[in-house]
Formats: sequence, structure tokens, C-alpha cells
Amino acid sequence: MSTPTKSPIGVFDSGYGGLTVLKEIVKQLPDYDYLYLGDNARAPYGSRSFETVYEYTLECVKHLFEMGCPLVLLACNTASAKALRTIQQKDLPTLAPEKRVLGVIRPTTEIVGKLSKTGHVGVLGTSGTVISNSYPIEIEKFYPNLIVSQEACPMWVPLVENNEFDSDGADYFIAKYLNNLLAKDPEIDTIILGCTHYPLLINKIRKQLPAEITLLSQGEIVAESLGDYLQRHPEIESKCSKGKSIDFYTTDAAENFDNAASIFFGKAVQSKHLPL
Ligand code: DGL
Repeated sequence: MSTPTKSPIGVFDSGYGGLTVLKEIVKQLPDYDYLYLGDNARAPYGSRSFETVYEYTLECVKHLFEMGCPLVLLACNTASAKALRTIQQKDLPTLAPEKRVLGVIRPTTEIVGKLSKTGHVGVLGTSGTVISNSYPIEIEKFYPNLIVSQEACPMWVPLVENNEFDSDGADYFIAKYLNNLLAKDPEIDTIILGCTHYPLLINKIRKQLPAEITLLSQGEIVAESLGDYLQRHPEIESKCSKGKSIDFYTTDAAENFDNAASIFFGKAVQSKHLPL
């Protein structure tokens, strides 16, 4: 009997944001090989239609499959909200029934109810994630009594992507969206940062929030949930190679990616260009 081929776990984002998730995954699951793909050439996804986000995400997932990944994590809320279900239900069965695609929304919604004491929760995300209603829908499955309010923060991804996350301009837009959210429901005591770009703004967000509000960032939660998934699914885990390597790919120019990516990943990054 031949040994099954083993390949890296794929991690996908529209651009840089997924690196904040990959960073935590590598901390918690350091033995595996990873292949990161950022679709920087077509980012941001946050304001794009369902059809476009689905089409772009599927194309990138196919690339990761072609590169051998047995499991792909959509480390992007917008892609998880707009493309994950269709890919899982419609495309996977014919495209690659033996492979798996996971998202970042479900792991976060699974735990949010355990953290809120008031039963009032806030979600901050891109316009696409908010309009999809994915968070309220998923949260209701686990915690039907939680009251969920959402606020789209369309300026936050551009601030982060343009290296303005530490500027005074960022303070203005952070205050704007936080105030809007808390005006919708002043009893909110737990806020989900529902976009993988937002961890770069976390210090500024924290400063503007009352101390009693818990801020939920996704990296650690998603990493834990991935570890749990691999334990529960030995048939997938056995296809994931363990060589502690990380390869980075971007659909845009590699030099541009490397400069910004190191800020998100916390370490120097050397990427390769992946033509679409
Ligand atoms: N990082 C993506 C997310 O988690 C959003 C970035 C974008 O708008 O492309 O939603």
C-alpha cells in the first residue's frame, strides 16, 4: 500500500488580514506546513458583491487545491460570509470531495455567548460581512437569546492596508464606528472583531472602549478550533504534512506584499507571485 501524499494546510485571505490568523495558528500548531495565499491584486473584498467574492474565493481555493492543500481555511470573514457555504455545498462535492474548506465565523460564534454577561453582543466587520447577516444567523444557532447588533466599518480595512492604522486619522474612524455600534445598543459587553484586518487596530480600539467591554479577536479562537478540527478528523489530519514550513503567495507583486505582510505576521515574510 502506498503512503498517502501529504501537503500543507492552505490559508486564504483577500490580502494581508489572514496573516493575523496564520500567526496564531503557527503558534498553536507549529509542526504543520502552511501555504498562505493573499488575493492582494483584487483586495479589498469587503465592499464587493456576493457573486464577485464567491467567484474570487473559489478561484483562489482551486489554486490552493492544485498546490496540493488537503484543507483550506478561509481566514477572511468576508469570504467566509459570502462564499464558504456555496463552496462547501455546491463546489466541493464535484471539485474535490476528499478535501475540506473551513471558515472563521463559526468558531467565533461558538464561544461568544460564554463571554457575554449582559446577553448583548456587537459585531464589527466589513460591509459585506454585515450585510450577509452571517454573524447574527450563526450566533442564533448556538445562543438564541443573545441580542446582536452590527456595524460595518468600511474605512478600517483601507486604513490598515495603507499603513495608517497607527495614525490620528485612524482614531477618528475608530471612534465613529464604535460610537455608532454602542448607540445601537448601550448594553453591549462583548464585541467581535469580525474582520481579520482589525487586530492591527486593536490597541486604538481598546483605548476608546469602556474597560468592561470584552473585545474578541479571532486569531487564537480560530487556531484553537483548527487544532480541535484536526483532532476530530484524522482522515484529513493524516493528509497534512509536518515540516514546519510556511510558503507565502500573493496575486499582486511579491515585493509589495513582503513589506506590509511582516507587520501583520510579526516576522519577515518572503512571498512569491501567483498569477491568476
Ligand atoms: N480580511 C477580510 C475579512 O476578514 C476583509 C478584507 C477585505 O475587505 O478584503 O473580512
